[in-house]
Amino acid sequence: MKKFSLTKKIKSVLARDRKVIITTTRSDVPFVASHGDGDFVYDISGNKFIDFSSFIGVYNLGVNSIKPAREAAKKQIDLLMHAAFTDYCAELPVEFAENLLPMFPKGFGKVFFSNSGTEANEAAIKYSKLFTKRPYTFSFYNSFHGRTMGSLSLTTSKLAHREHFGPFNSTLHAPYAYCYRCPFGKEYPSCGIACLDYIRKYPLSKEASGKEISAIFLEPVAGEGGYIVPPKEFVKGIRELASDNGILLVSDEVQAGYMRTGRFLALDNFGVDADIYTMAKSLGGGLPIGVTVLKTKLCDVPEGAHSNTYGGNLVAVAAANALLKYVKYNMASLREQSDSKAKYMMSRLNEMKDRHDIIGDVRGLGMMIGVDFVKDRATKEPAVKARDEIIKESFNNGLLMLPAGESVIRLIPPITISQDSLEEGLDILEAAIEKVGKKR
Ligand SMILES: Cc1ncc(COP(=O)(O)O)c(C=O)c1O
Repeated sequence: MKKFSLTKKIKSVLARDRKVIITTTRSDVPFVASHGDGDFVYDISGNKFIDFSSFIGVYNLGVNSIKPAREAAKKQIDLLMHAAFTDYCAELPVEFAENLLPMFPKGFGKVFFSNSGTEANEAAIKYSKLFTKRPYTFSFYNSFHGRTMGSLSLTTSKLAHREHFGPFNSTLHAPYAYCYRCPFGKEYPSCGIACLDYIRKYPLSKEASGKEISAIFLEPVAGEGGYIVPPKEFVKGIRELASDNGILLVSDEVQAGYMRTGRFLALDNFGVDADIYTMAKSLGGGLPIGVTVLKTKLCDVPEGAHSNTYGGNLVAVAAANALLKYVKYNMASLREQSDSKAKYMMSRLNEMKDRHDIIGDVRGLGMMIGVDFVKDRATKEPAVKARDEIIKESFNNGLLMLPAGESVIRLIPPITISQDSLEEGLDILEAAIEKVGKKR
């Protein structure tokens, strides 16, 4: 990959951006997108990058999605873009829902369409309150469920997301099973899953009883919070806790779902089912769409209780439907690709860990992999600056990546990435780790 060249053109767009765009979560790297296809993306000055970000988990099937999805969206633009689907009706969103529902466990009967992950979770919050008539929701520290006020009440991955925005919806929180940095100072598996015990002993005994909680929101793998893979027993225990108390379990599949872990639903890796699923990001392959998928027995929603304007937008649905057909047709191959590429990545990254003590932990499920950087392996103090420098150095050599949590780099290339690009990307990453590690 050629070295990145910071041109006048790039500097000028970034300066204009700073003048007119309200600060969001912009990364530190001077990337100004132009076009992309498959494994690669190009900026406005022709700099080429291998994509290890899937553009925040949206391009699980390759940069700028796949051709049939693009073709379907183009065709739909000329027919009709918006059909006010939530007020009138159109066949395409109905067909898409019919195609989508068999991807969920038996007994899942209806879909609500929205435009993003946070909206999908807002709908799940409202439906769970509606069905249980209970006031509280429950989520985990390090979780990310979105930034609108309802889902923000669940989100606890960073204080910056919440500061100045409270008070929030009544939500209880407890530690996620973050074994590498166990909040109870224990080791898995001898801990006996102390984080599960804690929930029964403290929030559910001292803050609100299980009978007052409408839903537990769970990311099967914590994304934004640091690419944390919980032990199976934790997820099974949460399922049991929910069932014991008549609480609905919501699986937030916005980042971990849609084949990212090698399965359509990330929760399937743990051998349990949820009561409500939310999904967005890769579902539209680049167009905004979110879904909240409900068990049939929960589907009796009174008219007007929840709706929106753009849900079921025909262009987004056309792309999502074509993409889903592709996924279904290629399911075996996608699973095989994810399994073998994940194995290759984990083995390369663990070799890097052996060579570079700045790497504290390598963890992942399928192709949702995080590398946690530390100042010292014994204290596990997060190496935030070094992590940021590694991202920048890699960017300068043609590899696009994103951070997660305090000191993690998330490695989420498209599942369809070629072996050559995967190898080259990992080579670039290791060279950056070497360079930054030596400077310390
Ligand atoms: C697990 C999870 N849930 C919800 C969201 C919010 O999605 P959106 O940014 O589309 O609102 C995200 C976004 O990163 C996410 O990772």
